[in-house]
Amino acid sequence: MIRVLFVCLGNICRSPTAEAIFRAKVSAAGLQDCFHIDSAGTGDWHVGKPPDARMQQAARQRDYDLSGLRARQISQEDLDEFDHLLVMDQANLHDVRALAKRPEQLEKIQLLLDYGQSLRDEVPDPYYGGEAGFYQVIDLIEDATADLLQHLRQRHAV
Ligand code: 4NP
Repeated sequence: MIRVLFVCLGNICRSPTAEAIFRAKVSAAGLQDCFHIDSAGTGDWHVGKPPDARMQQAARQRDYDLSGLRARQISQEDLDEFDHLLVMDQANLHDVRALAKRPEQLEKIQLLLDYGQSLRDEVPDPYYGGEAGFYQVIDLIEDATADLLQHLRQRHAV
């Protein structure tokens, strides 16, 4: 089992979208039994809440259903339980690294946009912006997760 955790600030916009899009790609490849996929936020403000309505709406337009997901906060145990932690921006990277207790945990933490073709290095926080920002999140995550899946298939030989 390859365990992948996507992390953003609130776990109501970017990381649940990454969870759903990556899960769709894994299922399309017939690899759903090889992956455990989850998401979490560094903050606790939205714990227990479904994804932001604007994010759900944009995702639905692209055929992704986020409605069953609920926000949770990342914990120290996640750094042991997951093999790969993919974060959306530099602030997430800083905050998740701060939870690490051992060097091998640090090695699991990467920016999601280290993968894919985008020249950006962060998935921008769409929370205080307009509708276009939510579609940009989807575009960036679709591109990066396609590349991520290729890399993980090679790395783990699945
Ligand atoms: P996310 O977006 O980190 O992509 O889930 C945000 C959600 C909520 C807030 C900020 C970003 N907030 O400040 O409440």
